[in-house]
Parts: sequence; C-alpha cells; structure tokens
Amino acid sequence: MKSKTLRKILYPLPKISVSLLTSDLSNLCYIVKKLEHTGTEVLHLDVMDGNFVPNLTFGPPVIKSLRQHTSCFFDVHLMVSNPKESFLWYINSGADLIVFHYETVKEKDIKKLVYDIKKHNVYCGISIKPNTSVDKLIPYLKIIDLVLIMTVEPGFGGQKFLSKCSSKIKKLVEIRRQKKLDFIISCDGGINENNIVNIISLGCELPVIGSTIFRDDNFVKKTKEFHILTTKLKFYK
Ligand code: DX5
Ligand code: ZN
Repeated sequence: MKSKTLRKILYPLPKISVSLLTSDLSNLCYIVKKLEHTGTEVLHLDVMDGNFVPNLTFGPPVIKSLRQHTSCFFDVHLMVSNPKESFLWYINSGADLIVFHYETVKEKDIKKLVYDIKKHNVYCGISIKPNTSVDKLIPYLKIIDLVLIMTVEPGFGGQKFLSKCSSKIKKLVEIRRQKKLDFIISCDGGINENNIVNIISLGCELPVIGSTIFRDDNFVKKTKEFHILTTKLKFYK
C-alpha cells in the first residue's frame, strides 16, 4: 500500500492528464519529452483490447519502453475485458495508477481486485461508461483513489463530450463530502478549451485531454495553454 494519498502525489489539483491516444504514436518518446518540457506531470495511457472496446491500441511492452524515458506519472486506463487477469502486466510495466472499468468485473470480485492492485504499491481507480450510474460505485468509494467518469463512449479519441455525464461529477462531489472520503474525480473524453472550465468548476480535478491537444498544429503550445488555465482554477474541495 502507498503511504501517501493520490491527492498528495498529484497536488496541486486540478491538473490535466494528457492522453496520448491521438498523438503520433510512431514518435511517442519525442512527444513525451516535449510534453515534459511544458510541465506535464500526468500521462493518460489508453489500453484498448479490441474486445471491451472495438479499438486496439498498445499494451505492456509499449508502456514499459516509455517508462524508461520519462518520470511522468502513468495514469493507465484499462479498456480491457480481463483486468483481473492482466493488471499485473501493467504494474510491472511501470503504471502508477491502474484504472479498470466497473463493467468488466463481477461485483463480488471488485474489492479483491482493488486490494490486489493496491497491494503492489500502485494507486487504483474505477471507470464507468456513460450509461453506468455512479450509484454502482458506492460500495467501493472508500477503498479507491480515483473515479474516472467516461464522458464519451470508450474506444475512440475525438468524440463529443456527453453533457448528460456532467451530473455525475456533482453527485460524486456530494457523496464524497457526505461520507468524508478523499477519492479524486477524473473525466475522460471530449474535453476542450470551451468546456474545461465548467467541467472543473463542477468538481472534476483531473480532466483527461487528448485530441484537443494533438489535433492542434502546435501541441506544445496547446498543452501549455491548458496548464496555465488549470493552474488558475482553484478547486473547492
Ligand atoms: C477514449 C479514451 C480517451 C480519449 C480521450 O476511449 O479513453 O482517453 O483519448 O480523448 P479525447 O480528448 O480525444 O476525447
Ligand atoms: Zn482514457
């Protein structure tokens, strides 16, 4: 188990987690070095297995290779149907945080999976798809470090933010306050310069941003702009 909370490690929040999914994946090392120079601290690594989601990305060997070139925090988003069987591969590849999908694990196995992940000195989060209710996570909020609210259907970058998911942020903020918990709220998908302020003001502390950064002609400049913006926004936990 980690001695410091994830909140302490990521302090100060909010900050962005940069998703590499829509970057030039043939040039990952270069991109990551550039991102580090902008002050990027958290990288969001989207693992897709072609089964839980239709798309396929990268797995443990790529994460392990990248680990040798950066000290950024690895926020590993597992969009795979077998997290129970495969989580250790990602831990051994250098993940700092493992986020698995609620929809991929039987209720009776979720707590054990969280403990198994945390036992290896790695932080653990659970993600929910747009049609999964926040209520499903209530039994686990006490033991996890982060909730990842999918604000698009998982599987592809560059989709439109689903505004119906915004209410989940508020609901989680309220549950966290009532139960005096400490998990971090992250959102993933369709976040851009036009909606990020609202998303953060609702209570999202770690917005994931991919295509808005990498579809820009100058991803370095764009990333810096997001860092400047998020530094200015104080979250009122
Ligand atoms: C989608 C992925 C996201 C994606 C977000 O399934 O989980 O992390 O990269 O990217 P944008 O910012 O392109 O919506
Ligand atoms: Zn993701």
